[in-house]
Amino acid sequence: MAPVKTIAVIIAMKAEAAPLVEHLGLKKAEPSPFPGPIPAEVFSGAVGDATVHVCCNGEAKGFGVDSVGTVPAALTAYQICEHLKPDLLINAGTAGGFKAMGGAIGDVYLATAFKNHDRRIPIPGFDAYGVGHADAAPCPALRLATGFKPGVVSTGNSLDAPDVDVESLKKNEASVKEMEAAGIAHVCAMFDVPLLAVKAITDIVDGDKPTQDEFLENLGAAAKALQGAVPKVIEFVAGKELGAL
Ligand code: ADE
Repeated sequence: MAPVKTIAVIIAMKAEAAPLVEHLGLKKAEPSPFPGPIPAEVFSGAVGDATVHVCCNGEAKGFGVDSVGTVPAALTAYQICEHLKPDLLINAGTAGGFKAMGGAIGDVYLATAFKNHDRRIPIPGFDAYGVGHADAAPCPALRLATGFKPGVVSTGNSLDAPDVDVESLKKNEASVKEMEAAGIAHVCAMFDVPLLAVKAITDIVDGDKPTQDEFLENLGAAAKALQGAVPKVIEFVAGKELGAL
């Protein structure tokens, strides 16, 4: 097994990525390594012996906001796998947590598996495909070294959680609710690229505050938490064989 030399980190929002890019001293890759009109931005540099690319989805054309959700995540992940050829992909970002699963604001999770909670297709075969299931790259030593919480990451394209999604989240045994990871896992499975996800909790899905208010209140603190957490993961994995994670 070859050591992990090229690491790509995919983060949806620029505000989530900025402290990390600054901390790692990465520089914007210009021109973009991705051909075509995809608005993704790539920030690259060396971290120890490894090459690290932090990639954001970029601005959604005509809306003036970051592209979030599974479609931009999968498009960016596809370009990353095709053109940057990472040995390992790390999805980092903010997410909702669950007090029923022991979650609290500021917690950092290292995903165990990826599922969807808003793809209900009650037709044999498509039902299981809709929920999906991809395992994170096995990383027992990394879990021990970081102490980040383990948990299933469940993905959907909405920030809110109507009852029908809450039911699916429970069935998925989700500890983390966010909007990208399962789309990225779909692409990683195609390319056989191992995937880790590091998620910092900004809001409590089964709490009593409106999600959007709690999210905006805690976004800065969670981005700082990622700035601390992601380099720990990068430094641990860089130069190691996948089997040693
Ligand atoms: N990102 C941060 N909080 C989230 C939530 N509650 N749902 C989906 N994505 C999120």
